[in-house]
Amino acid sequence: MGFRSVRFHGFRNLEDGEVNLGAHEVYLIGENGQGKTNFLEALYLLSYGSSFRTRQDRDLVAWGSREMAVHSRFETPEEPEGRLSVIWQDGTKSIRFHGKIVNDRKELLRRIPVIVFVHEDFLFAGGPPERRRWFMDQTLSLHDPMYVDQIRRFKKLLKERNHLLKSRKTVLLDHYSEQLASAGLAVSDRRESLTREFGTIFTPLFQEVSGMDEEVTMVYRPSWGDSRSTGEVMEKIREKQDMDLALGTTGSGPHRDRFIFLADGRDFAKNASTGEQRLLSLVLRVAQARFYSETTGRKPLLLLDDVLLELDSSRRRLFRDRLPEAEQIFYTFLPGEETGRIGDNSLTYEVKNGVLYEQ
Ligand SMILES: Nc1ncnc2c1ncn2[C@@H]1O[C@H](COP(=O)(O)OP(=O)(O)O)[C@@H](O)[C@H]1O
Ligand SMILES: [Mg+2]
Repeated sequence: MGFRSVRFHGFRNLEDGEVNLGAHEVYLIGENGQGKTNFLEALYLLSYGSSFRTRQDRDLVAWGSREMAVHSRFETPEEPEGRLSVIWQDGTKSIRFHGKIVNDRKELLRRIPVIVFVHEDFLFAGGPPERRRWFMDQTLSLHDPMYVDQIRRFKKLLKERNHLLKSRKTVLLDHYSEQLASAGLAVSDRRESLTREFGTIFTPLFQEVSGMDEEVTMVYRPSWGDSRSTGEVMEKIREKQDMDLALGTTGSGPHRDRFIFLADGRDFAKNASTGEQRLLSLVLRVAQARFYSETTGRKPLLLLDDVLLELDSSRRRLFRDRLPEAEQIFYTFLPGEETGRIGDNSLTYEVKNGVLYEQ
């Protein structure tokens, strides 16, 4: 099933009130700037506890409003009568599951497993390495929420070590470097095995959808190279310690890892056309959704924001056929745009100036 309804209060440009979502497919149709993406952002917020468009929760509050709330009712196989809310009041955000405060966003993951396809995704292909790390970390976190703790532990130690470097407390440095090495290797191991498993889905999928002869593979390039033990990593860290001290920051580690796409030994994404980069990013999301459903046996909810717009009709069909079975799917379209076959169990809304009109 998925979301049954959502109720807004002071969220972006969306009108206050409740919207029925009780269908397998939900179509949002409207001109640009009317609130379609805002609507999907609210659903994503309920799933992840944060937005895909902004890091500032304040941005989500309707201009002129002092508070914001999004309440939802949902139904999943694990949770037949779920209630989840995100509230922003007096400068702080709170998340409530059945009325009870959720203290750690990690607990939210997988309650409503959402995979989103949005415009900003094109940065996964040609954007900075940070975007690919973020994508792979999200894929891992959805697959196994415990990974969130591993990455948090690494980031905390990194921050502490950087603090030591800046304040030049060199006595403690070795101790922190060792901790950092061990926490970082844990992250690195997870990323490495993920890349391998993810690749078995991504590579054939990209070949099918792109129609390219050559295979494109995703390769993991850890910043610590092939060092596999804390001792080996410590050696690397020690070698660069003077540089780290001079710059006041840790120059190597999982925060500098790279994921690259190789075709015939070449860096594919770097030389790809804009169209190829978009397709690559789109396929990464499909692979993310499939990886999630294959490894957990659960069906995700899919939010597809304007994605079909970029594809010609044969690719559209290819793309849609390759999506995994979903608990619920949301699509956005421009008026008059070809939507393809609309199923029986569906709802269509016209979105105009923040108001949803059922069609
Ligand atoms: N915090 C906010 N309060 C009120 N309106 C907002 C806020 N943030 C964005 N908007 C408005 O929302 C609209 C964008 O909506 P969006 O969902 O991106 O449109 P689209 O239908 O093209 O996806 C813009 O008109 C923008 O001015
Ligand atoms: Mg939009």
